[in-house]
Amino acid sequence: MKELICLGIEGTAHTFGASIITSKGDILSDVRDMYTTKKGGIIPQDAAKHHKEISNSVIEKSLKEANKNFDDINLISFSRAPGLAPCLLATKDVAIRLAKEHKKDLIGVNHAIAHLTSGLLFTEAKDPIYIYVSGANTQILALIDKRFRILGETLDIGLGNALDKFGRGIELGFPAGPKIEELAKDGEYVELPYTVKGMDLTFSGIVTEATNKFRKDYKKEDLCFSVQETLFSMLTEVVERALAFTEKKEALLIGGVAANKRLVEMLNIMCKERGAKFYNVPLRYSGDQAVMIAWQGILEYNSGKKDSLNIDIDDSQRTDQVEVIWN
Ligand code: ATP
Ligand code: FE2
Repeated sequence: MKELICLGIEGTAHTFGASIITSKGDILSDVRDMYTTKKGGIIPQDAAKHHKEISNSVIEKSLKEANKNFDDINLISFSRAPGLAPCLLATKDVAIRLAKEHKKDLIGVNHAIAHLTSGLLFTEAKDPIYIYVSGANTQILALIDKRFRILGETLDIGLGNALDKFGRGIELGFPAGPKIEELAKDGEYVELPYTVKGMDLTFSGIVTEATNKFRKDYKKEDLCFSVQETLFSMLTEVVERALAFTEKKEALLIGGVAANKRLVEMLNIMCKERGAKFYNVPLRYSGDQAVMIAWQGILEYNSGKKDSLNIDIDDSQRTDQVEVIWN
C-alpha cells in the first residue's frame, strides 16, 4: 500500500493541535496550543475563539516541523465528535477550508475512539481492555464484533473531575489530581463509601463524604490517601471483571488520570495476578493531541472511508455508535 501522509487537527475542547504522521505511524510533528483560564474552568465560546485565532499558526508550525508542505499531504482528518459544540464547529471550519483550498480528501473522526486506537500505536498492546480515565470520561471498553463496547462506566462524573471536585473541596486548586497524589503519600486510611454498581461506578457520593470529613477536621493527607485508594480500587475491580468476562489478556490505561502512579501500580498488580499484560500510554500522549486524530484518519481512509465537504459535527456521539471498519 502507498504510504500516506495525514494532517490531523484536534479541537474538541481546551486543546487545539495539529500533527503530521505517516501511515507507517511515524510522527513527523505534534504541535499543541492549550486554552487556559486562571480558575481552570472552560468557557466553550472562548475556547472556540482561541482555536480560531491560533489555528493557522499551529498548522503552519506543524508543517514546518515535519518539513512538509500541503503538496506532500494526502489527507486531512479532524475531530468531529464528541466535544464542546463551539470548539467542534471552529475545528471543522478550519479542516473544510484547508481541504477545499488544497483539494485534499477529508475525514472526520471520533475523538474518544482516536484515544483508544492510538493507544495501540503508542504501546505494544494488541487487543486490550481499554481503561479510559480523563477529566470528563471514565469508561472500560473492549473491541467486540466491530464496536468498542462500553463494559462499564461512570454513572455520574469522570474520575479526573471527581478528584478535581474533591480537591476544590479541600482547597487544593486546579487540577487537583497531582496534588492529591502527592499528599496521599503521607496518609492513612479512613473509611469512605465504596460504590460499584454492577460494572458501573459512581464517584459523587464519595467526594461529598470525603469533603464533609474535611470539615470535621480529618487530615488532608488521610483523605487524599483514602479517596485514591477507594476510587482506584473500584476502577480496578471493574477492570478485573472486564478481563474475566471477555477473556482478554491485556489492559491499556489511557487519559489524563493515567499519570497517577498509584493507579498504575494497582492495575499492574491486578493484571500480574491474572496473568494479563498491563500497558500505559506514555504521558505525552495520554491527554488531548492531534497525533491520535491523524492516526485515526489514516486507519479509516485506508479502509475506504472518505467524507464529503458538507460533513457536520456531532457533539454527543457515543463511542459504541461508530462501526469499527478498520482492523
Ligand atoms: P477528555 O476530553 O479526553 O475527557 P480531559 O480534558 O477531560 O480530556 P485529560 O486532559 O485527559 O482530561 O485529564 C485531565 C485530568 O487528569 C484532570 O482531572 C486531572 O486532575 C487528572 N490528573 C492529572 N494528573 C493526575 C495525577 N497525577 N493523578 C490523578 N489525576 C491526575
Ligand atoms: Fe480527550
